[in-house]
Amino acid sequence: MTQRKLILYIAASLDGYIAKPDGDIEWLSMVEAPQQDYGYKEFVKTVDTIIMGRKTYEKVLSFGIPWPHAERRSFILSKTRSGGDENVTFFNGDVGALVAQIRQTPGLNIYCDGGAEVVYELMRRDLIDQYVISVIPVLLGEGIPLFKPGRSQHNLTLLKSTAFPSGLVQMHFERKRDAGAV
Ligand SMILES: NC(=O)c1ccc[n+]([C@@H]2O[C@H](COP(=O)([O-])OP(=O)(O)OC[C@H]3O[C@@H](n4cnc5c(N)ncnc54)[C@H](OP(=O)(O)O)[C@@H]3O)[C@@H](O)[C@H]2O)c1
Repeated sequence: MTQRKLILYIAASLDGYIAKPDGDIEWLSMVEAPQQDYGYKEFVKTVDTIIMGRKTYEKVLSFGIPWPHAERRSFILSKTRSGGDENVTFFNGDVGALVAQIRQTPGLNIYCDGGAEVVYELMRRDLIDQYVISVIPVLLGEGIPLFKPGRSQHNLTLLKSTAFPSGLVQMHFERKRDAGAV
């Protein structure tokens, strides 16, 4: 049985921010184009479990839309919230154990939707298998950095990259896990 992959699928400015300092992500709309979802619909067909941080979760709720992952299991990392509802389960425990537990049962891949704090927690444990990063053609200057400092080096293999007419460049990387790789 192939191990279920944990995939980070996220957008960032060219200078590496996922949101402005106040959490604003309105700038992402600059690449919105008719009939262009940058592969998102196809991607979500390959996942059945979501991991995201409490701040990202609350941002999604602030859009006032129905929970977009109703047919998937969603784990929201939080130390301040517990329990859950029909859509999500709050999780405050060992993130490594959570991922291991998800992987024990057969299923599709696992989608990490961010934010940066959760990416850091997962990367610290070297749990992310693939990175799908959509670079938005803007230099925000400041904001919430996608990759926080203070973890070890991770070498990656570029699987593919696509440049779209909007200027968005999407890169798919795989974590290099060959013997001897960092
Ligand atoms: N550009 C994009 O594609 C994209 C994607 C995702 C998010 N975003 C943006 O990024 C911003 C949020 O990112 P963020 O890095 O500030 O926050 P985040 O990672 O979404 O959430 C951080 C929260 O997650 C919880 N958490 C983190 N590590 C934990 C652990 N080990 N155990 C338990 N709980 C843990 C904590 O919740 P408690 O405080 O409740 O303990 C923490 O405050 C939002 O503005 C969002 O819109 C952008």
